[in-house]
Amino acid sequence: MTTTHTPVTRATFDQFMAPNYAPGAMIPVRGLGSRVWDQSGRELVDLAGGIAVSSVGHCHPKVVGALVEQANKIWHVANVLTNEPALKLARALVDATFADRIFLANSGGEANEAAFKLARRYATDHFPKDPKNIDKHESDKNEIVACTNSFHGRTLFTVTVGGQPKYTQGFGPLPAGIHHVPYNDLDAMKKVVNDKTCAIVVEPIQGEGGVTPAKPEYLQGLRALADQHGALLIFDEVQSGAGRTGELYAYMNYGVTPDILTTAKGIGGGFPIGAMLTTEKVAKSLVVGSHGSTYGGNPLGCAVALAVFDLITAESTRANVKARSAQLKEGLKKIGDRHQVFADVRGDGLLIGAELAQPFAGKAKDLINAAEKESVMVLMAGPDVMRFAPSLLITEADVAEGLSRFERGVAAFVAANTQAKAA
Ligand SMILES: Cc1ncc(COP(=O)(O)O)c(C=O)c1O
Repeated sequence: MTTTHTPVTRATFDQFMAPNYAPGAMIPVRGLGSRVWDQSGRELVDLAGGIAVSSVGHCHPKVVGALVEQANKIWHVANVLTNEPALKLARALVDATFADRIFLANSGGEANEAAFKLARRYATDHFPKDPKNIDKHESDKNEIVACTNSFHGRTLFTVTVGGQPKYTQGFGPLPAGIHHVPYNDLDAMKKVVNDKTCAIVVEPIQGEGGVTPAKPEYLQGLRALADQHGALLIFDEVQSGAGRTGELYAYMNYGVTPDILTTAKGIGGGFPIGAMLTTEKVAKSLVVGSHGSTYGGNPLGCAVALAVFDLITAESTRANVKARSAQLKEGLKKIGDRHQVFADVRGDGLLIGAELAQPFAGKAKDLINAAEKESVMVLMAGPDVMRFAPSLLITEADVAEGLSRFERGVAAFVAANTQAKAA
């Protein structure tokens, strides 16, 4: 008979877990900084960062310390009461950004769910169908315009706003009033946005969709368009935020301020936490009882996020992001040149994409596996783009070691694909 202490292997996944993931062969059991060890004791360089989550690496002593300290104080109070770490985190986010008000959640999807609900609620309050009977809570201004290839989460609302039909297939009926237009195409957006639009939603850097940064004039144009039609501009910074581009949020690089911003992933450094940031005026529509979450703003998550916040907002971190970004991009370009494997290397800060050259298109997963065999963890963003989202504190030596291991993986990948073609 098994007990909770009986050892587990990758095969245990196939036996007991829902089959919605296809995890790799190794099981990581320990991490420190940008190194990870698997069950067999093998050590890997982590250039994946848990998909842009492990913003300060694994088991940073300050973050572990904050978690342990809070774990010995109080874990949960529920939102009928507030708690000190949540208040400190909200104040820090307000002080550092455009926002006046914060709603705390547990994930990016939940932060976006709150944002999209709030956009509709705000429209109902400010553009009611029947101004004499505002209690009816109805508005024709309920449409949301988002981008193809975007990703905003997996709840039914957020996955529908996300522009990747493969993720909504079979889950209908889907929420109505949601439109998609190509990313970075202002004219396409202008054709669809009108006075029925309550929100325009974009990622300043499309992460899952292929690591594509927005053009500055695109975000500026969206701001003007939203204002023209009384719509809210929502920036999903779940992946691009939390210091990943060197600034705390990518909107700061663009000088374009949204009405609502969502953040998660790197803000918790691996602890599940998300937040929706907004203005005083917009937040007013989230009246008491209109939205909530049992765990949102829980003391453990907020204590961790506060420690992470201090680290990612340090000037030394910002400088490291810029320097390691240049090192990683340059290294990838050289690998691309030497092996003719990449068509483009792009991205901002430590969210970098390397698009596979035509002969290797569609094979990103194979390259992840080849890299893993050489003991380096990397990501994909769709089948054609390799993605790198390491810790913002990764050292020069770890980037160098990661790149040299990755190059060995690339060589094996190229050889395997060339042989397969020749055969
Ligand atoms: C831009 C963006 N928004 C939202 C999400 C969803 O976040 P979560 O998985 O924490 O719900 C993700 C996750 O990859 C993301 O990249």
